[in-house]
This record gives sequence, C-alpha cells and structure tokens, in this order.
Amino acid sequence: MREHLTIVDHPLVQHKLTLMRDKATSTAGFRQLLREISLLLAYEVTRDLPMTTMTVDTPLQEMEAPVLKGKKLALVSILRAGNGLLDGVLELIPSARVGFVGLYRDEETLQPVQYYFKVPGDLADRPVIAVDPMLATGNSSAAAVQLLKDAGATDIRFLCLLAAPEGVARMKEAHPDVSIITASLDKRLNEKGYILPGLGDAGDRMFGTK
Ligand code: URA
Repeated sequence: MREHLTIVDHPLVQHKLTLMRDKATSTAGFRQLLREISLLLAYEVTRDLPMTTMTVDTPLQEMEAPVLKGKKLALVSILRAGNGLLDGVLELIPSARVGFVGLYRDEETLQPVQYYFKVPGDLADRPVIAVDPMLATGNSSAAAVQLLKDAGATDIRFLCLLAAPEGVARMKEAHPDVSIITASLDKRLNEKGYILPGLGDAGDRMFGTK
C-alpha cells in the first residue's frame, strides 16, 4: 500500500518553492522555477513504478538490466494550470502519453463541470499521473480523478506543488487509493478557496494573466 500523502522535502524543491511563493518573482522566473521543480517532483512521483528486466549487451558482456515494466505512463493535465507542471514532467518522461481534463466551477452549485476530456484510450493498462499545481478544496481534483477512473484508470498518482489539508482530506475521502505527491502541505484555505500561505493563483502566475 502506497503512502496517501508524500511531501517532497528535498532541499532543492523547498528552495525553489520558496522563490515561487515570493510575489516579487516575475512570470518568467516563476515559469523557469516551475519547470525545474516539476523535474524534481517527477523523479519522486515515479519512484515506485513497477520494474522488470531486459537482456542488454554492454560493450563487454550481456546482462539482465532493470527497465520500466508494462505500457508507457499516461500524464493527465488538469487544465489550465496543470500544463505548467506537465511540461517539466514530460521533459523527464518524453515517451509518456498525454491527456487533458478541463473543469470549471459552476458559480451557483459550486460543483465542478466538465468542459473538455481527452485521454489515451487504454488508461486501464497504464500508470496514470494526474498533474495540477494546487490541491485546494480538492473538489475539482476529486472530480478529475473520478473521470479518469470512469475511463478505466486503476493506478493513479496525483502530483501537485502545494496542497491544503482540506484538499488532502477531500481526496482521501473520495479516492483513498490515489497517492498524492506534493512539495508542501500548507496551512489552510482562505474564504475564497486560496491556499494559505500559498503562492497565489498558479495559472495567473505562470501565464502572466490577472
Ligand atoms: N488555485 C490556485 O491557483 N491557487 C490557490 O491558492 C488555490 C487554487
């Protein structure tokens, strides 16, 4: 059984995250840091992937050497902020298949509504890594994971930059089988659903919108 929550406390991750939190960091700086930190997080989120061996000829002799087992990974970006994390993770795992889930929050019901869904067809056979930088209320993350399960996924990891206790609890209640990998478990949500102390709106900061 995998840990439900893993906090990546590597010094480089923590240092980069602090710079990302700083409101004085520029859009270009934020993007660069996000790219760098997503490589480090990708390393952690793939730590327990199943392995097998293959025979390989080195220049000196034949050996049985470890390789990843099974089909290529599927990365699923939860739009739009997920795309920032996706780029870095793809750099480390260039052969991964990629999917996208688009959800918006209905202002009346406050429930997530799907507006886009495109994922690799054989999700059931692949480890799936869903990426979204901010696990805040957890409502859209839990809904996105449910859509992936409905599409057949059985082995799902959720990768984020920051998590709020409320979002972790929501995910644990809805999807206890999905492990969450994050750089930090922050204090709480504010009344608007932003993570405190957080880093603000991740999408706005990475794309320079406001
Ligand atoms: N989404 C964000 O971009 N930031 C938060 O703090 C919460 C949700």
